[in-house]
Amino acid sequence: MTADDKEPLQYHRGFGNHIESAAYPHSLPQGRNNPRLVPRGLYAEQLSGTAFTAPRCENRRTWLYRMLPSVSSTSSGFISCQDKSTNLPSFFGHTDWNHDMKLDPNPMRWGATPPPKEGANFIQGVHTMLGSGDPTTKSGIAVYVYAFDQDMNCHDEKMHFYNSDGDFLIVPQQSGLAIQTELGKMEVSPGEVCVIPRGVVFTVNILRDDDKHVFARGYMLEIFRGHFSLPELGPIGSNGLANGRDFLHPIAHYDEVDDANESQSCIIVNKFGQSLFARTNPHSPYNVVAWHGNYLPYKYDLRKFCAINSVSYDHPDPSIYTVLTAKGGDEEGTALADFVIFPPRVMATDENTFRPPWFHRNVMTEYMGLIYGEYDAKKGTGGSDQKGGFVPGGSSLHSIMTPHGPDAASYYENVKKGCKEPTKFDGGLAFMFESSAMCKVSKFALNCEQRETSYAECWNGFKNTFPNMHV
Ligand SMILES: [Fe+2]
Repeated sequence: MTADDKEPLQYHRGFGNHIESAAYPHSLPQGRNNPRLVPRGLYAEQLSGTAFTAPRCENRRTWLYRMLPSVSSTSSGFISCQDKSTNLPSFFGHTDWNHDMKLDPNPMRWGATPPPKEGANFIQGVHTMLGSGDPTTKSGIAVYVYAFDQDMNCHDEKMHFYNSDGDFLIVPQQSGLAIQTELGKMEVSPGEVCVIPRGVVFTVNILRDDDKHVFARGYMLEIFRGHFSLPELGPIGSNGLANGRDFLHPIAHYDEVDDANESQSCIIVNKFGQSLFARTNPHSPYNVVAWHGNYLPYKYDLRKFCAINSVSYDHPDPSIYTVLTAKGGDEEGTALADFVIFPPRVMATDENTFRPPWFHRNVMTEYMGLIYGEYDAKKGTGGSDQKGGFVPGGSSLHSIMTPHGPDAASYYENVKKGCKEPTKFDGGLAFMFESSAMCKVSKFALNCEQRETSYAECWNGFKNTFPNMHV
């Protein structure tokens, strides 16, 4: 790492803005997108994130001005990682989307994803947990966990990645990520999230404070259609929840390109229909000198979230904590996927309020994770398999219409507890990927050692005291 790399990164601000960025003077064409003579001898290339004909309010595209067009040096061709001896998995997330996914309506819970047994980089360290639909028809979602301890560009084989299937929402839980993209660099630490749109080339390394051997762990949501947007605010008004100004985009940054320098040779990995393909490239893909547009990676600090909550009785539905939403559910007002957090906040205060989440059966699929601390509806202990409960780095799944809610210990504890005084919950940061899609669970998720097979035991012990009160 050079001294320059340790300078705080700069960012452009604002969700969905049209932004222009140049890393070299007078490199951005003015007044037009695709001039015959592009300044500085660059090549103009458009990256389309929506169909040309998408409505203006949803249209996303960015013009890239680069030293070489992406199509140059591609004649070697992509080779399927299934056909080639490679240290990459054949399928993204180590999961054959067509054969390794199973329907299972049981509630599930997993302990923290362990560090990789053998060294792994980001691509090698992702495991599919659940998913629905098919990226080849642009329908559905996928949910992943990751754990890796190697950088994608640390060895002779530098790897760079792009995803033809959808947009990634990355939620680091342990160790920050140093992410380089064609549009520039981002550093994303636990407590922050980032989105890498479909098609953008990127590289994920571990953000290290020193040379200690650490591993990065986190979660990812992928949407196979559309893009994330900010939720409508309705009666809340024009401010609140995640404010647009707090979303940060990278600024233009380029690597020098020298095809004669063999050390620049790298591997471009493409996720295409959940399969992985790889080809060599003689130079860095990060040769975009300037760009302008609104199809961009971004990051967001969850601590900036302006939580809205009940100030009288009953806590609202968790949709009140939606950070980002992806439209595309099959009914009006129904998202393909929502990213929801349970941030530090003052809880509803009247004396007869039950503060933890209620018992629930949902038309949506709920996958939850914990970034730090505790979640107020689950005690820290697990069932008979001694797997330890809902812990940071772990997760849970409550599928469509699968009953769930506070465990018996949490329920009775909170029934007994008075609620007269305002209480600030500040003990943890949980999140939920909520989807209208019915999801299948991967073989990995079903069989991995961190699965807590006794999870449903946490709902043992409820007593029927009808017609008398519990307490
Ligand atoms: Fe729920």
